Amino acid sequence: MALAAALLCGMPTEAKNNPVEAMKAEGSFEAGNGAFMLNGKPFVVKAAELHYPRIPKEYWDQRIKLCKALGMNTVCLYVFWNAHEPRPDEFDFTGQNDLAQFVRLCRENGMYVILRPGPYVCAEWEMGGLPWWLLKKKDIRLREPDEYFMERVDKFQKAVADQVGDLTIANGGPIIMVQVENEYGSYGRNKEYVGQIRDMLRNNFGDKVTLFQCDWSSNFLENGLDDLIWTMNFGTGANIDQQFARLKEVRPESPLMCSEFWSGWFDKWGANHETRPAADMIAGIDEMLSKGISFSLYMTHGGTNWGHWAGANSPGFAPDVTSYDYDAPISESGQTTPKYWELRKTLAKYMDGKKMPSVPALIKPISIPAFEFDEVAPIFSNLPEPVNTTDIKTMEEFDQGFGSILYRTTLPEINTPSLLTVNDPHDYAQIFVDGKYVGKLDRRNGEKQIQIPACKRGATLDIFVEAMGRINFGRAIKDFKGITDNVQLTVDMDGRPFTCDLKNWQVYNIEDTYDTYVSMGEFYPIGSFTPGDDGRLPRGVYRATFDVKKPSDTFLNFETWGKGLVYVNGHPMGRIWEIGPQQTLYMPGCWLKKGENEIVVFDILGPREAKCEGLKEPKLDQLLVQKPLTHRTEGQNLDLSAEKPVLVGEFKPGNGWQEMPFGKTVNGRYVCVEALDAIDGKDLACIAEMYLLDGKGQRLSREPWTVMYADSEDVGRVNRSADKIFDLQESTYWSTVPGTPYPHAIVIDLGAAHDLTAIQCLPRMESDVPGAIKRFKVYVSPKPFKF
Ligand code: GLA
Repeated sequence: MALAAALLCGMPTEAKNNPVEAMKAEGSFEAGNGAFMLNGKPFVVKAAELHYPRIPKEYWDQRIKLCKALGMNTVCLYVFWNAHEPRPDEFDFTGQNDLAQFVRLCRENGMYVILRPGPYVCAEWEMGGLPWWLLKKKDIRLREPDEYFMERVDKFQKAVADQVGDLTIANGGPIIMVQVENEYGSYGRNKEYVGQIRDMLRNNFGDKVTLFQCDWSSNFLENGLDDLIWTMNFGTGANIDQQFARLKEVRPESPLMCSEFWSGWFDKWGANHETRPAADMIAGIDEMLSKGISFSLYMTHGGTNWGHWAGANSPGFAPDVTSYDYDAPISESGQTTPKYWELRKTLAKYMDGKKMPSVPALIKPISIPAFEFDEVAPIFSNLPEPVNTTDIKTMEEFDQGFGSILYRTTLPEINTPSLLTVNDPHDYAQIFVDGKYVGKLDRRNGEKQIQIPACKRGATLDIFVEAMGRINFGRAIKDFKGITDNVQLTVDMDGRPFTCDLKNWQVYNIEDTYDTYVSMGEFYPIGSFTPGDDGRLPRGVYRATFDVKKPSDTFLNFETWGKGLVYVNGHPMGRIWEIGPQQTLYMPGCWLKKGENEIVVFDILGPREAKCEGLKEPKLDQLLVQKPLTHRTEGQNLDLSAEKPVLVGEFKPGNGWQEMPFGKTVNGRYVCVEALDAIDGKDLACIAEMYLLDGKGQRLSREPWTVMYADSEDVGRVNRSADKIFDLQESTYWSTVPGTPYPHAIVIDLGAAHDLTAIQCLPRMESDVPGAIKRFKVYVSPKPFKF
């Protein structure tokens, strides 16, 4: 610190008065007594979370300026390992991936930087940022002290430090803190592993670097290392005092920081568009700043999951959409929103007398007149050379990371419609017999079985599997693609079912790259195809050119298309899927050309109309509901009259986890929680998270859980279905439709029978705990309950 001050004193006056030049002097950042200390003075971090790979490089500067103009003083960012090391030892820190350039740009704008280099980052990004090729070592233990995993992490962390090691504050750069791993508590307990990541960062960034760990208030102690700063992550609306209560108890001197204050939330295919009220965000920020609490607003600007980079949530496979708008103050395309202006007003109160920086010019979106596609290369007549394999293998075993994979074999003679079982299709499989479409298996719905028609011996079976993003959250991040185990056929043999494994496959690998699609083979005029019975044109690669007079941002409309991936002028724009809620793709003007532009769409279902247009506004909230979002059929009522509860209890008022032991061990597969009334006497019932403890008092894995029934679920314009109680996200919750009277009940199928000894429940995070249940009963049964 003394050194920093001395250096500042020795600086020419011009530099001293220029905050950007002053940032280039060696400085310090550390945890002081109850506050962060920047160059020896108390400092409240007001960080805007931004992810450079999610923003076109051409717009980085403008987006940083937009954050600065909000009143922020820091940019918080993740480093996505898989974007930087697409193949082992092939590092890429250029163009969109130029991390050092982004960090320098932050400094030029007078913004400090918090660096979060993982190796795991979550972030709704493919596999939480881990490279898919790690899975080529099938037995790898991810995020654990596995020799190969740690060897690769070490190389990556060294590569990151090579880029930005000289940009820490101790070296005259803007980086004030570096994060160790990411929310390890929602993965497991392993201080040894977290300690190894800490040591790597110390080795690479030097002793002076300030390291911190972020987690949830409910689990931070499980992996908290004594020599690291601890910060909490929670969403808008949460009871802030309660979020820091435990930390204050165990470390009364610690500066307080919410390292991820969730401004909104991310969207998943087939679910409602997520929004969070501006008022909650503003109230939270105001409260934190009035108490001197630092924060990072996740996201301040979300940006886009270009190409195949969107991840997926779990338990329950829920792939994320391409847009990472996040309902953040700065929209996906860099527009200011009402949330932006309200937040700016609030942050203006905390500028320590400094002037608010002015808001940079915004980009004016354009529309592009509708245009038709003229040519298509149908998939099935343009397959690449196949590889032969006796047994099913995953995509990774063929050295393929992304895209689609077709498994082809011949069938024995089948006399009656028979059952085909695919263990497991990751993620969207279409089944064809002799080229005729039979149906699909969608992993989101846990679909694995399908009836195939009777056929002659030697008929061709095709299983065409498209990979969505790899899971980025929880234990399921080890997410292989293609078919993960085997394919079985069950036929009728003299009145008895006979099951056999299908073998001897020809496998066609369709890697997701622009080159794969455009070199797929012959393109034919679209006019030579008539739509099938389902009204669709063939599955395949569609190509068109369109004219742009004056390039600017636009939103390409894919409402008439099926499911697939889009490239414009060779840029991977992202995934499309007719089910929504996202129907348009953000097209930055900086990637368009004046005059002719090329667009390529790989559609695995086939479009209803092969056309497109550019709109001035995005369509991110148009859900085409294909299956009910709720878990109750019309008129269905749960009948518990013959059941005896294993527990009759009463929850205490207030936030935080509560555990209720059964007082004995019970065995069963079906669990019903019946809520009898609410603490505030109103009609609402909500649960944020729920666990069951097994015979040893351990939390049962919730991966196989499904909701069998819920009497009421609020899914009108929000996502508050009962599965939210086991989605591993404490800020999302099950809610009944407001005004629906008690009692309420949900039934969970655990997937198999287990010994059970207790239930743990987390109510909503807001200080007034809306929907907090008071009296409740738990039922456990080996058989499904009666309806
Ligand atoms: C956690 C993770 C983030 C992100 C958010 C949800 O806090 O740390 O990477 O996944 O959840 O958006």
